[in-house]
Amino acid sequence: MDAPQTSIKSLKALAAAEAACRRCPLYRDATQAVPGEGPGRAAFMLVGEQPGDREDLAGKPFVGPAGRILDQALKDAGIDRKETYVTNAVKHFKHEMRGKRRLHKRPNNYEVGRCKIWLDHERALVKPATIIALGVTAARGVTGKTLTIAKLRKTPFDLADGTKLVVTVHPSSLLRIEDEGDRHAAYAAFVADLKAAREAAEDSSLHGADASARKRAAR
Ligand code: URA
Repeated sequence: MDAPQTSIKSLKALAAAEAACRRCPLYRDATQAVPGEGPGRAAFMLVGEQPGDREDLAGKPFVGPAGRILDQALKDAGIDRKETYVTNAVKHFKHEMRGKRRLHKRPNNYEVGRCKIWLDHERALVKPATIIALGVTAARGVTGKTLTIAKLRKTPFDLADGTKLVVTVHPSSLLRIEDEGDRHAAYAAFVADLKAAREAAEDSSLHGADASARKRAAR
């Protein structure tokens, strides 16, 4: 994480800075920037890709169809969404018009890179012990690198500042699976990843003398 060197000292100030962001062209076609949501200090930070159509209109992350799956999966994994900080790698909705419909377009590496500063600010303020990256764009937003989910999803790893990173799939990938059996299996694997993240977090707080916590406290 690039240590942010600015006067942004609160999530409120951060949301205002994001709303005024012109670091890439995505602000032009979006209704508004969608800031992260959740407690000012949270053990878990969930990072998605970018707001979708519903989130762009509501100004809140994960309130549409992907959010419904995420909410259910968090519940099934024993994680309370209200106690997690939920955000996106990119804060503006990237889309193209198809008739009157706004179709999601995946943000490119340039846009993810330009938006990373806001995620770094969120990390510095919220100080999560564990970040759960939902999909490759989220993983890139957090690390600045292109990571492969299949390789990484079984192994939480430590970021340079001691924060644990868990990489899993994006919940909207589950919506695209047509075969019901495959969809159920993919959902179960998603819940298992979230559960493993929760158990790893519980383990490290049980065994208190955890170097990660010390590193984060020193930030
Ligand atoms: N998908 C995301 O990645 N984020 C949202 O906020 C909604 C859908």
